[in-house]
Amino acid sequence: MLRVVVLVSGGGTNLQAIIDAVAAGSVTNTELVGVISNNKTVKSLERARSAGIPAVSVSPKDYADRDLFNEALLAKVDELQPDLVVLAGFLVAIPPAMVERYSGRIINIHPSLIPSFCGVGYYGLKVHERALERGVKVTGATVHFVTEGMDEGPIIAQKPVLVEEGDTPEVLQRRVMEQAEWILLPQAIDDIANGRIRIENGKVVQAQ
Ligand code: GRF
Repeated sequence: MLRVVVLVSGGGTNLQAIIDAVAAGSVTNTELVGVISNNKTVKSLERARSAGIPAVSVSPKDYADRDLFNEALLAKVDELQPDLVVLAGFLVAIPPAMVERYSGRIINIHPSLIPSFCGVGYYGLKVHERALERGVKVTGATVHFVTEGMDEGPIIAQKPVLVEEGDTPEVLQRRVMEQAEWILLPQAIDDIANGRIRIENGKVVQAQ
Protein backbone atom coordinates (compact mmCIF):
# COMPACT_ATOMS: atom_id res chain seq x y z
CA MET A 1 0.00 0.00 0.00
CA LEU A 2 1.59 3.27 -1.14
CA ARG A 3 1.51 5.86 1.64
CA VAL A 4 0.82 9.23 0.00
CA VAL A 5 1.10 12.71 1.51
CA VAL A 6 -0.38 15.59 -0.51
CA LEU A 7 0.95 19.15 -0.20
CA VAL A 8 -1.50 21.93 -1.11
CA SER A 9 -1.79 25.71 -1.05
CA GLY A 10 -5.22 26.63 -2.27
CA GLY A 11 -8.57 25.32 -3.45
CA GLY A 12 -7.48 21.71 -3.54
CA THR A 13 -9.32 20.63 -6.70
CA ASN A 14 -6.38 18.37 -7.60
CA LEU A 15 -6.46 16.93 -4.08
CA GLN A 16 -10.19 16.33 -4.50
CA ALA A 17 -9.57 14.52 -7.77
CA ILE A 18 -7.13 12.21 -5.97
CA ILE A 19 -9.53 11.65 -3.04
CA ASP A 20 -12.36 10.84 -5.45
CA ALA A 21 -10.21 8.51 -7.55
CA VAL A 22 -9.09 6.54 -4.47
CA ALA A 23 -12.69 6.34 -3.24
CA ALA A 24 -13.89 5.20 -6.69
CA GLY A 25 -11.18 2.54 -6.87
CA SER A 26 -9.57 3.95 -10.00
CA VAL A 27 -6.47 4.57 -7.92
CA THR A 28 -5.53 1.39 -6.08
CA ASN A 29 -2.93 0.21 -3.62
CA THR A 30 -2.83 3.76 -2.24
CA GLU A 31 -3.51 5.28 1.16
CA LEU A 32 -3.75 9.07 1.59
CA VAL A 33 -2.06 9.40 4.98
CA GLY A 34 -1.95 13.19 5.27
CA VAL A 35 -2.48 16.61 3.72
CA ILE A 36 -0.24 19.56 4.52
CA SER A 37 -1.03 23.12 3.48
CA ASN A 38 1.17 26.18 3.80
CA ASN A 39 -2.01 28.19 4.36
CA LYS A 40 -4.26 27.82 7.38
CA THR A 41 -7.62 28.74 5.98
CA VAL A 42 -7.93 26.96 2.71
CA LYS A 43 -10.64 24.79 1.25
CA SER A 44 -8.14 22.02 0.63
CA LEU A 45 -7.82 21.36 4.37
CA GLU A 46 -11.61 21.07 4.60
CA ARG A 47 -11.62 18.66 1.65
CA ALA A 48 -9.07 16.46 3.42
CA ARG A 49 -10.91 16.48 6.74
CA SER A 50 -14.22 15.69 5.04
CA ALA A 51 -12.51 12.63 3.60
CA GLY A 52 -11.14 11.64 7.01
CA ILE A 53 -7.56 12.43 6.06
CA PRO A 54 -5.32 14.05 8.73
CA ALA A 55 -4.79 17.65 7.57
CA VAL A 56 -2.47 20.25 9.03
CA SER A 57 -1.04 23.58 8.01
CA VAL A 58 2.62 24.45 8.28
CA SER A 59 2.76 28.14 7.48
CA PRO A 60 5.90 30.20 6.84
CA LYS A 61 4.14 32.96 8.79
CA ASP A 62 4.58 30.90 11.97
CA TYR A 63 8.38 30.70 11.68
CA ALA A 64 11.07 33.31 12.21
CA ASP A 65 12.79 32.46 8.94
CA ARG A 66 12.65 30.22 5.92
CA ASP A 67 15.11 27.67 7.32
CA LEU A 68 12.94 27.12 10.40
CA PHE A 69 9.87 26.73 8.17
CA ASN A 70 11.71 24.27 5.93
CA GLU A 71 12.73 22.20 8.95
CA ALA A 72 9.17 22.18 10.28
CA LEU A 73 7.72 21.19 6.91
CA LEU A 74 10.21 18.34 6.47
CA ALA A 75 9.60 17.15 10.05
CA LYS A 76 5.85 17.05 9.42
CA VAL A 77 6.32 15.10 6.18
CA ASP A 78 8.72 12.66 7.89
CA GLU A 79 6.21 12.13 10.71
CA LEU A 80 3.72 10.81 8.14
CA GLN A 81 6.30 8.40 6.69
CA PRO A 82 5.17 8.74 3.07
CA ASP A 83 6.29 6.55 0.18
CA LEU A 84 5.25 9.35 -2.19
CA VAL A 85 4.81 13.10 -1.74
CA VAL A 86 2.38 14.73 -4.18
CA LEU A 87 2.53 18.50 -4.82
CA ALA A 88 -1.03 19.42 -5.82
CA GLY A 89 -1.09 23.16 -6.39
CA PHE A 90 1.61 23.63 -3.76
CA LEU A 91 3.12 27.08 -4.25
CA VAL A 92 6.06 26.97 -1.83
CA ALA A 93 9.61 26.04 -2.87
CA ILE A 94 10.41 22.53 -1.66
CA PRO A 95 13.33 22.55 0.80
CA PRO A 96 16.47 21.11 -0.84
CA ALA A 97 16.82 18.72 2.11
CA MET A 98 13.37 17.34 1.31
CA VAL A 99 14.14 16.96 -2.40
CA GLU A 100 17.24 14.98 -1.39
CA ARG A 101 15.59 12.83 1.29
CA TYR A 102 12.61 12.00 -0.94
CA SER A 103 14.57 11.86 -4.18
CA GLY A 104 12.49 10.10 -6.82
CA ARG A 105 9.46 10.12 -4.51
CA ILE A 106 8.02 13.61 -5.04
CA ILE A 107 5.74 14.40 -7.99
CA ASN A 108 4.19 17.69 -9.10
CA ILE A 109 1.37 18.72 -11.42
CA HIS A 110 2.07 21.80 -13.53
CA PRO A 111 -0.65 23.44 -15.64
CA SER A 112 1.25 23.64 -18.94
CA LEU A 113 3.12 21.38 -21.35
CA ILE A 114 6.60 21.66 -19.82
CA PRO A 115 9.04 23.12 -20.98
CA SER A 116 6.56 25.79 -22.04
CA PHE A 117 5.34 28.30 -19.47
CA CYS A 118 7.13 26.87 -16.46
CA GLY A 119 9.86 27.81 -13.99
CA VAL A 120 10.13 30.78 -11.67
CA GLY A 121 7.03 32.99 -11.78
CA TYR A 122 4.90 30.49 -13.70
CA TYR A 123 2.23 29.24 -11.34
CA GLY A 124 -1.56 29.25 -11.07
CA LEU A 125 -3.39 31.69 -13.31
CA LYS A 126 -0.13 33.32 -14.48
CA VAL A 127 0.63 30.22 -16.55
CA HIS A 128 -2.59 30.59 -18.52
CA GLU A 129 -2.21 34.35 -18.85
CA ARG A 130 1.20 33.84 -20.51
CA ALA A 131 -0.13 31.05 -22.75
CA LEU A 132 -2.97 33.29 -23.98
CA GLU A 133 -0.60 36.22 -24.46
CA ARG A 134 1.68 34.00 -26.57
CA GLY A 135 -1.28 32.83 -28.59
CA VAL A 136 -0.64 29.10 -28.30
CA LYS A 137 -3.34 26.89 -29.81
CA VAL A 138 -2.61 23.95 -27.56
CA THR A 139 -1.64 23.94 -23.90
CA GLY A 140 -2.17 21.26 -21.27
CA ALA A 141 -0.68 19.87 -18.08
CA THR A 142 2.38 17.91 -17.03
CA VAL A 143 3.04 15.61 -14.09
CA HIS A 144 6.72 15.19 -13.33
CA PHE A 145 9.16 14.07 -10.66
CA VAL A 146 10.48 16.92 -8.55
CA THR A 147 14.19 17.74 -8.54
CA GLU A 148 16.17 20.70 -7.21
CA GLY A 149 15.17 23.01 -10.04
CA MET A 150 11.62 24.32 -10.52
CA ASP A 151 9.53 22.24 -12.95
CA GLU A 152 12.70 20.60 -14.34
CA GLY A 153 12.33 17.01 -13.17
CA PRO A 154 11.75 13.96 -15.40
CA ILE A 155 8.33 14.08 -17.05
CA ILE A 156 5.92 11.26 -16.17
CA ALA A 157 2.97 12.22 -18.37
CA GLN A 158 1.41 15.11 -20.27
CA LYS A 159 -2.04 15.79 -21.66
CA PRO A 160 -2.87 18.41 -24.33
CA VAL A 161 -5.80 20.81 -24.04
CA LEU A 162 -7.05 23.00 -26.88
CA VAL A 163 -7.19 26.76 -26.40
CA GLU A 164 -10.52 28.11 -27.64
CA GLU A 165 -11.46 31.45 -29.18
CA GLY A 166 -12.30 33.97 -26.49
CA ASP A 167 -10.75 32.00 -23.65
CA THR A 168 -10.01 33.99 -20.53
CA PRO A 169 -7.24 32.78 -18.20
CA GLU A 170 -9.89 31.55 -15.76
CA VAL A 171 -11.81 29.62 -18.41
CA LEU A 172 -8.62 28.08 -19.77
CA GLN A 173 -7.39 27.18 -16.26
CA ARG A 174 -10.62 25.37 -15.55
CA ARG A 175 -10.47 23.45 -18.84
CA VAL A 176 -6.85 22.44 -18.19
CA MET A 177 -7.84 21.26 -14.71
CA GLU A 178 -10.88 19.29 -15.93
CA GLN A 179 -9.36 17.82 -19.07
CA ALA A 180 -5.80 17.28 -17.91
CA GLU A 181 -4.73 17.89 -14.29
CA TRP A 182 -7.52 15.97 -12.60
CA ILE A 183 -6.84 13.00 -14.90
CA LEU A 184 -3.05 13.01 -14.98
CA LEU A 185 -2.34 13.26 -11.26
CA PRO A 186 -4.50 10.34 -10.06
CA GLN A 187 -3.26 8.24 -13.00
CA ALA A 188 0.38 8.94 -12.09
CA ILE A 189 -0.24 7.97 -8.46
CA ASP A 190 -1.93 4.74 -9.56
CA ASP A 191 0.97 3.96 -11.93
CA ILE A 192 3.53 4.50 -9.17
CA ALA A 193 1.47 2.63 -6.56
CA ASN A 194 1.24 -0.37 -8.89
CA GLY A 195 4.82 -0.36 -10.10
CA ARG A 196 4.05 0.67 -13.66
CA ILE A 197 6.46 3.58 -13.51
CA ARG A 198 9.52 4.43 -11.44
CA ILE A 199 12.53 6.68 -11.71
CA GLU A 200 15.96 5.20 -12.41
CA ASN A 201 19.16 7.24 -12.90
CA GLY A 202 17.05 10.34 -13.33
CA LYS A 203 14.88 8.84 -16.05
CA VAL A 204 11.27 7.71 -15.89
CA VAL A 205 11.12 3.96 -16.47
CA GLN A 206 7.92 2.28 -17.61
CA ALA A 207 7.64 -1.28 -16.26
CA GLN A 208 6.96 -3.82 -19.00
C1 GRF B 1 -4.16 25.69 -10.19
O1 GRF B 1 -3.63 26.81 -10.86
C2 GRF B 1 -3.73 24.44 -10.89
O2 GRF B 1 -3.71 24.65 -12.29
C3 GRF B 1 -2.36 24.23 -10.36
O3 GRF B 1 -2.40 24.67 -9.00
C4 GRF B 1 -3.48 25.61 -8.85
C5 GRF B 1 -4.41 25.24 -7.74
O4 GRF B 1 -4.91 23.99 -7.95
N1 GRF B 1 -1.98 22.84 -10.43
P1 GRF B 1 -5.84 23.28 -6.83
O5 GRF B 1 -7.26 23.62 -7.17
O6 GRF B 1 -5.45 23.85 -5.48
O7 GRF B 1 -5.56 21.82 -6.96
